[in-house]
Order: sequence, then structure tokens, then C-alpha cells
Amino acid sequence: MTSIRKTILVTGGAGFIGSNFVLQWINNVGGAVVNLDLLTYAGNAENLEALEGDSRHLFVKGDICDAELVATLLHTHRPSAIVHFAAESHVDRSIVEPGAFVRTNVQGTFTLLEQAKRYWPTLDAHEQQVFRFLHVSTDEVYGSLGPNDAAFSEVTAYAPNSPYAASKAASDHFARAYYHTYALPVLMTNCSNNYGPFQFPEKLIPLMILNALEGKPLPVYGDGKNVRDWLFVEDHCAAIRTVLERGVVGECYNIGGNSEQMNLDVVNTICDLVDEMRPNRTIGERRKLITFVVDRPGHDRRYAIDTTRINRELGWKPTLTFKDGLRKTVAWYLEQEAWIRNVRTGAYKDWIRKNYQERSTL
Ligand code: NAD
Ligand code: TYD
Repeated sequence: MTSIRKTILVTGGAGFIGSNFVLQWINNVGGAVVNLDLLTYAGNAENLEALEGDSRHLFVKGDICDAELVATLLHTHRPSAIVHFAAESHVDRSIVEPGAFVRTNVQGTFTLLEQAKRYWPTLDAHEQQVFRFLHVSTDEVYGSLGPNDAAFSEVTAYAPNSPYAASKAASDHFARAYYHTYALPVLMTNCSNNYGPFQFPEKLIPLMILNALEGKPLPVYGDGKNVRDWLFVEDHCAAIRTVLERGVVGECYNIGGNSEQMNLDVVNTICDLVDEMRPNRTIGERRKLITFVVDRPGHDRRYAIDTTRINRELGWKPTLTFKDGLRKTVAWYLEQEAWIRNVRTGAYKDWIRKNYQERSTL
């Protein structure tokens, strides 16, 4: 078992999963973080407000494609690990603007790997032994499952279907190649859909919570029968910590919630929770707001994750059921008026207009 307790470099630590991870790392593990994030539309410094004045958190606004900046950060702070979250992460945006996904997800990951490869040999023998590059990826690289197919395992062949998934698959291949070719101590994780605090409200769960709260239409793509596996974000962060501590170098670990849900069921449950927590006579029953809209092109039908390996080999399993996690998440969003106001800027409104205005109802 390695002992990673000193400073780590986190990329994308102002995004949804990254900020949850940084908060956990500093508050629960007591480690220090250099947090490299470009603060794109998806990055939000407010997610890290609780760390204001905490000397264990150094925030650096910058681009993972900037090789010089990455090299300087590595050589100045000498981190014992790189945990790489930074990415363009929204499938619908990747359909509209795939180029940004190639740049950040492929070129950015390559830049980090290349700089890590140069930095790693400058460490002393013990530091080299404990150093890790953990590449955070998604189950979407495996493509789409039929209703009776076995869940994705670590040996499932890659078959990415969206530009987002293709760019993540390419970055996974580079991470794997840097281990095999240069012996860089790479670890990889492929996780299912996350939900929880600080998720940008362009993704299904926060979008539906906010629209339900305000009595706006709830746009369900296609027939609403697509299936996703859902994992509470803090469980994902704990899994990443586990892999960092105990994962076998060069290996990949699938992470999931063992909780497959049909989109329509997720949206119905959100409606019921918002009705219960914020009843509104004018709006009435939120389920009536559900509107079926034109489907996402190439929409993957089903994702499911086989978590046998991380469970058996590293002893990780999710702690929260989907029911409890969703209740916690809805309650969190209902308390975040200022955070919501601040993330729904002009850029957010432009995206909502672009994605939904021309998507006619079915
Ligand atoms: P997010 O979109 O919420 O956050 C991405 C972060 O990366 C933002 O803070 C953004 O500012 C930053 N970023 C983007 N481009 C950058 C660049 N060029 N340089 C530096 N920073 C940059 O994403 P997320 O949902 O938190 O996902 C984090 C990672 O986890 C991604 O790699 C994603 O593929 C993976 N993942 C996400 C999910 C999910 O359900 N959200 C599931 C599995 C895996
Ligand atoms: P999303 O949160 O974008 O995650 P991903 O596409 O990476 O799985 O979407 C989750 C599911 O919800 C997916 O099947 C698409 C669907 N969806 C809708 O039906 N309506 C929406 O407005 C959004 C954003 C997603």
C-alpha cells in the first residue's frame, strides 16, 4: 500500500466532481492540493468557498494544455500524485461543439502525461515509487448496452458513441500507453453517472430539480426509457481515494452505484421529492411538467457497471442508496439560492436556449 499524504495536483478541481474531491481530500485526509482549473463555464470558484484562507489549498487558474504552466507547477510543488478530472464533460455540448472536447480531453490529457513523464524521474527513489497519475474517466467509453447485456467490466471493448465518449476514450488510450511505453505509474477509473452537490445544472438531475422548483417544463429526451447507473459524487470521490491508495499501477477500475434507473423514473422521483419539500399550489403536481422532446442524436440506451473488481480487490463499495442520495441532493439544491443565481449566467441561458428551444416536443 502506498501512502499519499503530501501535496497532490488536482486538475479540474473547481468542477462538479473535482470540487467534491478537493473538499474531501483537505477536510477528511488532511492533505494539501494544488488545484489547476481554467474556470470554464463549468468551473466555479464558489464550490471551494469553504476553503477560503486554508493554506492547504492553492488555486491556480490555468489550462491543462499549457505545458509550461504544468511543468512549473510540478517542479515547484513536487506533488506525490496527479488526479486528473479536468475535461469538457457534457454529451449534448459535444454534439454541438466537438472541437473543444478534442482540445481539452485529448490534447490536455496528453500534455499532462507528457509533463508527468518528465517530472517523475526527477523525484528520489522513494518518491518515484509512491508517485501516481490517476486518470478519471467514464463508463461512456464502452458504448451502449442492450436490456439483457452484462454490465461493463474492465475488459469490455471500447465502443464510444458520442464525441464526448470518443475524446475520453482517446485520453484513456494515451494514459494506458504512457504506462506501457514509459512505465509512468498510471491508474485509471471509469465511473458511471454522478449526482450530488455542485453539479452544473445542464445535467439531468440538477436541471430537473431547478425546473421542477420553478414550474418549468421537464424536457425528457425520446421515450425516457434510457437507463443510467447513478452514483452519489462523494462515493465516487472515496473510490478515487481508494484507487490512489491501493490500486495496482497500470490497472483500470470500474466504479458504479449498482443503481440502474430509467430516466423517466429519475424525473418522476425528483418531481415527488420537490412536491414534498417545496409544495406549490400554483404549480401543482410536478409530474405534469414532464415534456417528451426530440431525442439526443446517437443517444446511448443503457449503461451499467460491474463493480466486482474494485469491490473484491480494493474493498470499496457505495455507501448511499440512490433513494437517499437523491433526497440529499434535492435538499441541497433547494438551499442554494445564491449558488444557483450565480451559475445561471448569460452563458448558461444561451446554452439552455440552444439545446432546448429548437428541440420540439414529441
Ligand atoms: P465538470 O464539467 O463539472 O468540470 C470540469 C472542470 O474542468 C471545470 O472546473 C472546468 O473549468 C475544468 N476545465 C475544463 N477545461 C479545462 C482546461 N483546459 N484546463 C483546466 N481546467 C479545465 O466535470 P465533472 O462532471 O466534474 O467531471 C470530472 C471528470 O470526471 C471528467 O473527466 C469526466 O469525464 C469524468 N466523469 C464524470 C462523470 C459525471 O457523471 N459527471 C462520470 C464519470 C466520469
Ligand atoms: P446527462 O446528465 O447529460 O448525462 P449522460 O448523457 O452523460 O449520461 O443525461 C443523463 C440522461 O438523461 C441521458 O440519458 C440523457 C437524459 N437527459 C434528458 O432526458 N433530458 C435532459 O434535458 C438532459 C440534460 C438529459
